[in-house]
Amino acid sequence: MKLDKSAQLFERAQKSLAGGVGAQVRLASLPHPVYFDRGQGAKLYDVDGNEYIDYLLAYGPLILGHCPRPVADAVKAQLERGTLFGAPHEAIVRLAEKLVELVPCYEMVRFSNSGSEAVHAVQRLARAFTGRPKIVKFEGHYHGWYDNIYISHLPEALSMIGLPHAPWPVLGSPGQPESVLQDIIVLPWNNLELVERTLKDRAHEIAAIITEPVMSNCAVIPPLAGYLEGLRRLTQEHEVLLIFDEVITGLRIGLHSAQGHFGVIPDLSIVSKALGAGYPIVSWGGRREIMELVAQRQVVHAGTFNANPLCAAAALATVTELSRDNGAVYERMTALATTLKEGIAKQARAHGIPVRLQGIGPFFGLSFRDPEVPITNFREALEEYPGRYPKFRLALLERGVHIFPTEKGLWYLSAAHTEEDITRTLEAVDGALATLKE
Ligand SMILES: Cc1ncc(COP(=O)(O)O)c(C=O)c1O
Repeated sequence: MKLDKSAQLFERAQKSLAGGVGAQVRLASLPHPVYFDRGQGAKLYDVDGNEYIDYLLAYGPLILGHCPRPVADAVKAQLERGTLFGAPHEAIVRLAEKLVELVPCYEMVRFSNSGSEAVHAVQRLARAFTGRPKIVKFEGHYHGWYDNIYISHLPEALSMIGLPHAPWPVLGSPGQPESVLQDIIVLPWNNLELVERTLKDRAHEIAAIITEPVMSNCAVIPPLAGYLEGLRRLTQEHEVLLIFDEVITGLRIGLHSAQGHFGVIPDLSIVSKALGAGYPIVSWGGRREIMELVAQRQVVHAGTFNANPLCAAAALATVTELSRDNGAVYERMTALATTLKEGIAKQARAHGIPVRLQGIGPFFGLSFRDPEVPITNFREALEEYPGRYPKFRLALLERGVHIFPTEKGLWYLSAAHTEEDITRTLEAVDGALATLKE
C-alpha cells in the first residue's frame, strides 16, 4: 500500500492547519493521518487511490454508510431552497415530532450542532432546574471537550486518577481552569454502591448524574445487570436528574436508543451521531417540565446554526430510513456485527492471541485482552497488551480495512456493509493477526 500523497499532504498541511488535522484524535493515525478523497457505501478511498472497508464511519455517525442516496437527495433538494433561515421551518418541527415518538424520554427537544454543545446545554438546564451546582460523571466517560466536563477522561497514567473507590477528578487539557473541578464529582462506573453512598451524603448539592448508558468510549462496556435501573431508582429517591449521553448509543443500538433497549428512562438525554448520518445535528431534551425552562426562555440556549434546514433535511431522511419496517436495518447490522465478532474470535483463537470483543448490536470494541474476562470499567479497559493495537490497526489498513486509530478499538457497522465486506475483512484480520506474532 502506498500512502505517498497522504504523506505529502500531511507535510504541507502542518504549515497552515494546526497539526495537519481537524481534531486531536486524527493525529493518532499511524504512520501519519490518511487523507481521504471520497466515500461511498461502506468504502473509503484515499488520495493515493487505496480502497478501504470502513468500520470507523467518521467515529460513528455514518450509520447508513458514506453518501447514502436518500440523505444526499434530501440535502440536495434543500440546498436549492435555502440552507439557513435563522428562523424556524417545518422540517425541524417534523423532526422534533419524530424524535419525541422514537426516544422514550423525549417530551420536548432542542437541536445543537455538536455533542459537546448539547452536553453543555443539559448541564446548565439540570443546574437551573434543581438549583444545585454539582454534576456526577464517571471516570473514563467522554462527554465532549468543554472545560466543565472534559475531566477524568483518559488520564495518562493510572497513578493520576486516585484509588478505584475514590477517584480524583483530573483535568484533560492545559488551559482548563482548576475551578471547574469544584462542580464535578467523579465516580467509577458500574459501581452502584458508591453512587448510593454519594447521593446519601451529598444529594443536596448534586444537580444530575450524567452517564453513557453503554460506556462506548473504551471497549464498549455494557451496564452490569441492574446498574441503570439502580441509577434511575437512586436519582429519583434523591431528586437528582439522570442524564443519558446517547451521543454514540442514540439511534445506534436500536431505533429507541439505549434507553429503549434497556427500558430505563432518564430525565434528559442527548441523541447525536447517528441522527444526521454524517451531517452535524444533535438533539437533546427530555421531561416537559424541565424543558419548559428553555421553552419559557429562562434557561438560555442559543446558536446561529442550530436546527438549520440542511441538517434537518438530512436527519429527517435518516430517521425515515432507520425507521423502515420498524427498524429492520438494526437486525441486519447486528447480524453482520455478530458474524464479524465470531469470525475475529475464531481467528484469534487459531493464532493463540488473546482478543476480547464486547458490544451491543451494531457496534463493538476489540481489545487485546483475555477473551474470557469481561471488561466492566475504565481501569480494566486501560490494561492492554502493550503495543498490539497500533500494529494490528496498521496491518489492517495495509490490507484495506479502516478501523479506530486508538486502543478504544470501536468498530461500527452501517446499513451499507455487506456479507462480502465481512468475508474480505476477516481475510484481512487473519493476515493482520499473523503479523502480531512476527
Ligand atoms: C458519548 C459522547 N458524548 C459527547 C461527545 C462529544 O460530541 P461532539 O464530538 O459532537 O462534540 C462524544 C464524541 O465522540 C461522545 O462520544
